[in-house]
Amino acid sequence: MTLDLVTAGESHGRELVAVLSGVPAGLRLDRAAIDAELARRQHGYGRGGRQKIEKDRVDVRAGLRGGVTLGSPLLLAIPNRDWENWSRVMDPWEVDPEAAERRRLTAPRPGHADLVGAWKYGHTEDLRNAFERASARETAARVAAGAVCKQLLTLCGVSIRSGVLALGGTALLDGPPSFADLEKVDDASPLRTVAPDRESDLVTRIDEAKHAGETLGGVVGVVARGVPPGLGSYARWEERLDGQLAQAVMAVQAVKAVAIGAGIETASLPGSRAHDPILPGRGGLRRGSNHTGGNEAGVSNGEEVVVRAFMKPISTLREPLPSVDLATGKAAKAAYERSDVTAVPACGVIVEAALAFVLARALLAKFGGDNISDTLEALAAYRRRLGKLGPEGFVAP
Ligand SMILES: Cc1cc2nc3c(=O)[nH]c(=O)nc-3n(C[C@H](O)[C@H](O)[C@H](O)COP(=O)(O)O)c2cc1C
Repeated sequence: MTLDLVTAGESHGRELVAVLSGVPAGLRLDRAAIDAELARRQHGYGRGGRQKIEKDRVDVRAGLRGGVTLGSPLLLAIPNRDWENWSRVMDPWEVDPEAAERRRLTAPRPGHADLVGAWKYGHTEDLRNAFERASARETAARVAAGAVCKQLLTLCGVSIRSGVLALGGTALLDGPPSFADLEKVDDASPLRTVAPDRESDLVTRIDEAKHAGETLGGVVGVVARGVPPGLGSYARWEERLDGQLAQAVMAVQAVKAVAIGAGIETASLPGSRAHDPILPGRGGLRRGSNHTGGNEAGVSNGEEVVVRAFMKPISTLREPLPSVDLATGKAAKAAYERSDVTAVPACGVIVEAALAFVLARALLAKFGGDNISDTLEALAAYRRRLGKLGPEGFVAP
């Protein structure tokens, strides 16, 4: 059974849902830990008014009994508190024409889903039909599913952390982060950066951007530690772990580039400095460096899995760019609706969820198991097989 994730729901609809199938039976889930991940996604200086309305909490509607997975698909729902203000506009069966008219948008925002959604799905009359789904509110569902994957990964000895590496053009760390770099991140700080002492300057920068009607992008780093070697495959291109990671991370709204390890930096280094020496270590092999970011030939190599995601600035601008009103065909300013100035800190949490899903899927593909105890036994047997020639840090639970 493959681990599979489908999400549904509109930004101002009744709720966001995730269907996560392929989770082994027997996994005890911690509801508070899922809610904690949802709260982390909502955190961060520079977010719009929506985050004050929503206090996301997961509601598990299927696949769980007494807090333990049944092996059947999990249905995770995150109700939208804002729904009561939007039901007349977004009701699945009956929309109030006057309320919908007041919320109708027809001048597409450059950089958002509006124009392509109008063309592709025929949503020319009201761009809301496109962007309600394209909105990153959808990532609440991905984060809830990722939180379940994290709980599975924790049992297998894997932990994941993230942090902001750059914001609005100010770099706080050059190159790829290590897990230790990300341990400096304080989740309660305004921006979840790797340099908490520099955050007050960045807060000022965000205030200035807000004042000017501007938005800011940035870079997040995400690292998974304890990933068993051998996840992914070089035998089939679509099973390459680096490819799967890049796809899942790039699929986060507004992420426009992904780097695995020092992928960007090694392009300009000579081969002798780009690769990671293999050295004898204590109880296993160790590496002299981790430029590959834990991936060799599309397979995890037991080192930290390191990913950077580059996020563009939010495309909804209070000083909008030129556009065309699709209702009249005339030049117009792009639509504006309440929006974030920056969402880079939240992006880190979402990319963590993307990593958690891909790693859990690859781990289950390798070790299988209809019950979690089967998965853990297979993992331990694999560790025994690798023995002293395995990676030094690979300690099976
Ligand atoms: C956490 C997060 C919050 C976002 N908030 C907004 C927002 O408030 N306004 C906006 O226009 N775009 C926002 N975006 C980005 C849009 O969802 C995204 O640009 C849009 O769906 C088009 O997709 P693309 O940028 O990947 O091409 C956000 C993205 C993330 C990851």
